[in-house]
Amino acid sequence: ESTLGAAAKQSGRYFGVAIAANRLNDSTYSTIANREFNSVTAENEMKIDALQPQRGQFNFAAGDRVYNWAVQNGKQVRGHTLAWHSQQPGWMQNLSGGALRQAMVDHINGVMNHYRGKIVEWDVVNEAFADGNSGARRDSNLQRSGNDWIEVAFRAARAADPSAKLCYNDYNVENWNAAKTQAMYAMVRDFKQRGVPIDCVGFQAHFNDGSPYNSNFRTTLQSFAALGVDVSVTELDIQGASPTTYGNVVNDCLAVTRCLGITVWGVRDTDSWRSHHTPLLFNGDGSKKPAYNGVLNAL
Ligand code: XIL
Repeated sequence: ESTLGAAAKQSGRYFGVAIAANRLNDSTYSTIANREFNSVTAENEMKIDALQPQRGQFNFAAGDRVYNWAVQNGKQVRGHTLAWHSQQPGWMQNLSGGALRQAMVDHINGVMNHYRGKIVEWDVVNEAFADGNSGARRDSNLQRSGNDWIEVAFRAARAADPSAKLCYNDYNVENWNAAKTQAMYAMVRDFKQRGVPIDCVGFQAHFNDGSPYNSNFRTTLQSFAALGVDVSVTELDIQGASPTTYGNVVNDCLAVTRCLGITVWGVRDTDSWRSHHTPLLFNGDGSKKPAYNGVLNAL
């Protein structure tokens, strides 16, 4: 196959990209995005601050731009993200306790109702665990509303759109030996045992010199899949963009039957949130980097 999406499709998987709505008018950008990828995540446009800037007033304009571009071009869409400590609108940052809990559920209902039946995978909860060796939850207004906030979010999400796969998504959880990975594993195992509706786990896979790729990522994917959830690589970028490392990540996903697909976090290095890491598959001029071939040859 000659594109990433078509190559991934041979094994029933997707190869996706994060899209920024304000770049879709750049024809170099949209040409590559349309040609190479068959799944789309909105890089920022479906986050809480974008969709509900004022309490009770939803604005789906930018989210719909990304969604409509994807669907008009034959791509599936990952939803990102319904409950998160970051990129909350000001009004939500100021809430706590029961009022915040209600606002979280209202947000899930409002957004999932708008996109009902249209989103293949939703990141229901993003980044709830702390970095480092504690294995604890990350402190946030949501966490302080009660330890059960995550399962409350998943139950609300299931009721709002029963057709979407409901994912928990995080970073620095790719290394099987990390305390954060083990804490996330314990939560997913507990949810499956107690019937909390969770269908998938997203591994962001932002690899850099401080938190590099480790070959035990495959063990991590396999271990989560064995709990009875699908797994996805949701925000892949690799500092320096080693073709070998990119190929290893692809091989890890392909080795796990329940790995649904891979999403890279941007098109060209110049589009990246970490552009100084030159972490993506395309140069600023739109040409393919060696990492592109590392991915294509592995798919
Ligand atoms: C990043 C976006 O790429 C940036 O444009 C934005 O300024 C901040 O958020 N984990 C996530 C993503 O789940 O939503 C983040 O995206 C990157 C880290």
